[in-house]
Amino acid sequence: MNACIRAVVRKSLQQGLKVVGIRRGFEGMIEGDFLSLDSDSVSNIIQRGGTTLKSARSIEFMTIEGRKKAFDHLKAHNIDALIAIGGDGTFTGARIFEQEFGIPVIGVPGTIDNDLFGTDATIGYDTALNTVVSAVDKIRDTAESHNRLFFIEVMGRDAGFIALRSGIASGAESVLVPEMITHIEDLVKMLETRQLRKQNSAIIMVAEGDDAGGAFQVAEKVKARFDYYETRVTVLGHLQRGGNPSAYDRVLASQLGVASVDALLSGQSMLMVGMQGRDIAFTPFEQAIKHHKELNKGLLSLLEVLA
Ligand code: F6P
Repeated sequence: MNACIRAVVRKSLQQGLKVVGIRRGFEGMIEGDFLSLDSDSVSNIIQRGGTTLKSARSIEFMTIEGRKKAFDHLKAHNIDALIAIGGDGTFTGARIFEQEFGIPVIGVPGTIDNDLFGTDATIGYDTALNTVVSAVDKIRDTAESHNRLFFIEVMGRDAGFIALRSGIASGAESVLVPEMITHIEDLVKMLETRQLRKQNSAIIMVAEGDDAGGAFQVAEKVKARFDYYETRVTVLGHLQRGGNPSAYDRVLASQLGVASVDALLSGQSMLMVGMQGRDIAFTPFEQAIKHHKELNKGLLSLLEVLA
């Protein structure tokens, strides 16, 4: 997200615009927690995880009174357009705000879950994938040496993008995602086959939102049916949400940040800027929020071949 903030600031200054950073998202907007941003204020942040502007969930912004306070602060500071970095919740709030107060807004997709329709990738997704893959590589050393079955839980409350792609990249034997019903019998069958082939370790990636439960629950269910392997569970948790961003994420965030300023300057609003193939693409908030982004079917079949 810092790479995006940097890009927005530098592009805006180049266009002769003034830029104000809003701390803690909508919450900061309600409180008037603003800071003026110049080129130096975004120096040395491209390599940092998290967001220098900080982030917060705002209950008050869900009320008209809260949004009115936010609008008054924007007016007092002569802010006449917004760029909002975030996911579903951010875009939903921004959309209502635009409709009520007419402040143009462009959204930039920032979530490790990659579950926003209208963009191939969201800011943070690639970094999270790399973190997961490097963790699984390390866990595999124990799995292999001790003949163990590992259930590794990754983030993805409603979506299996992290689990699927990191599962392929780390050579996982199976991947469980919320988008597909998990059949414990199928998992047990696969493990029995491995046992017959004398393959004595396995990695099962479990998205936290899988219908069969998180990694601990799935491990219990499997153990109850098949206890040949010694089993361990690792929950990667918030490790996935931090750390230095990958090169891919830095470039993506820079491209999207610059494109968001261009969009505002050309009079656009209520759009999420994304990347489709090698092209910048704009998707109306309504679609980005409502449409379900499907898992890549090609990757799902690849997993079947490789596992
Ligand atoms: O950004 C979405 C997400 O990464 C989910 O996959 C996960 O469930 C959630 O964030 C965790 O958020 P929190 O920091 O509030 O626990």
